[in-house]
Amino acid sequence: MEFDKVLQLRKSIRSYTEEPVSEEDRKALVHAALTSSVGHHNDKGYAIVTVTDPKVLHLISTEGGEKVGKPHMIYEAPLLILICRTEDVMESLEGFDAGIIAEHIHLKASDLGLGSIILFGFIRLLGKDAEYLKALHLPEGITPILAVAVGHTPLADKPRKENRHFQVIER
Ligand SMILES: Cc1cc2nc3c(=O)[nH]c(=O)nc-3n(C[C@H](O)[C@H](O)[C@H](O)COP(=O)(O)O)c2cc1C
Repeated sequence: MEFDKVLQLRKSIRSYTEEPVSEEDRKALVHAALTSSVGHHNDKGYAIVTVTDPKVLHLISTEGGEKVGKPHMIYEAPLLILICRTEDVMESLEGFDAGIIAEHIHLKASDLGLGSIILFGFIRLLGKDAEYLKALHLPEGITPILAVAVGHTPLADKPRKENRHFQVIER
């Protein structure tokens, strides 16, 4: 897809069909994450974890409902991509790096005609002792810091209604 079209279609999607994301698209989204920039060449600081196991995804919704009264924090998306820090992360850069990695995935999803949304809320609210983390059995030191939920949606080909209203200052 032409790049400006991808930008026009980029938007946060909070409703998905039950159709799974194909293996080909899942790999393309991971590849997009691997093309991102990262501060200080610190590739060792991050790990990308893709989650399609319905049991694990369901655990997030159940725990969200029971612990914090929010059962739809990942909007029933069939694919969740976790951007994780490792023990080698540089704390001063992790927020920037994770945001950039997430945006690569988010834009690639638009390019593929998929819907997606960048998510921090469930990671913060469910915390480090969350049931989904126990079920994932991630290697020692690998902890999610940001996520992107991805899936199919009839809204994928609808342009975003508005752009941001940031101040733009020209000197
Ligand atoms: C770093 C970051 C974290 C976000 N976390 C959440 C979240 O936990 N839950 C949610 O519904 N939306 C989340 N969003 C989506 C924003 O709320 C969304 O970008 C905003 O609604 C603007 O809509 P748009 O992306 O369609 O322009 C997050 C976005 C970013 C960039």
